[in-house]
Amino acid sequence: MDYDAFLALVKKRRSIRRFKPDPVPDEYIDKIVEAARWAPSSANSQPWEFIIIKEKETRDKIVDLIDATKEETYRMEQTREERLRHPGGRSAAPEEALRQAPVLIVVLGDPRMKEASILTAVHNHGDANLNTSLANAFIYMHLAAASLGLGSRYVSSTSSPFVQALMKDLLGIPKQLEIYDTIALGFRAGEPRPRLVREKSELVHRGRYDRSKFRTDKEAEDFIASIHRDRITPGGPA
Ligand SMILES: Cc1cc2nc3c(=O)[nH]c(=O)nc-3n(C[C@H](O)[C@H](O)[C@H](O)COP(=O)(O)O)c2cc1C
Repeated sequence: MDYDAFLALVKKRRSIRRFKPDPVPDEYIDKIVEAARWAPSSANSQPWEFIIIKEKETRDKIVDLIDATKEETYRMEQTREERLRHPGGRSAAPEEALRQAPVLIVVLGDPRMKEASILTAVHNHGDANLNTSLANAFIYMHLAAASLGLGSRYVSSTSSPFVQALMKDLLGIPKQLEIYDTIALGFRAGEPRPRLVREKSELVHRGRYDRSKFRTDKEAEDFIASIHRDRITPGGPA
């Protein structure tokens, strides 16, 4: 694969939040997990396991758990200045679109694998190594899904304390493992509009840090407000 094909795939992967009801072939699911298996991990610890959920009843129970946190999430978000409120917390509306996703894959992390790293890393940033390893597997899954013509979405609220505890019970996940994140998969019901992407010139420094590019606190906040605006504009990527 050449760079142009690679970049095209990177750009094709977008967060898809509306899915067609059509089932995803098992062969595609297998290919997505196959890609994740090859992700780089700290000391090759491969701290991941995957639960593939196609059963509607189980998926609905998971979405019910997420919906049960909506009011709390909404109230928490209300404590922030309006323009800085995350789009996902601007209402307590239930996750109806997520119910349409025909497949969820829960990615589990095994924190015991932190011990595989060199000891200085175990003490210094063992959590970062674990999370980076899991994030690598996760992004490989999203890219694999995009390469197969599927849409995918992060369902990060499945790792929140409440949802995590109840999902672990629901799915029989051993207490030693933690839910890293969940990917929702399905065929895309429409394409998201182009996304706001920061200019290269703003974020690349050559030789040493160029202080003229350092964002003031106000500029940093304005940026956050602008990406939230981008998500909540009707027809926007949300
Ligand atoms: C760590 C992380 C957590 C995320 N959690 C969620 C989530 O819970 N729900 C969601 O809809 N999107 C989630 N996203 C997707 C981001 O909102 C999305 O990647 C970003 O807006 C850029 O849009 P794009 O993915 O379409 O390029 C998450 C992304 C990352 C990297």
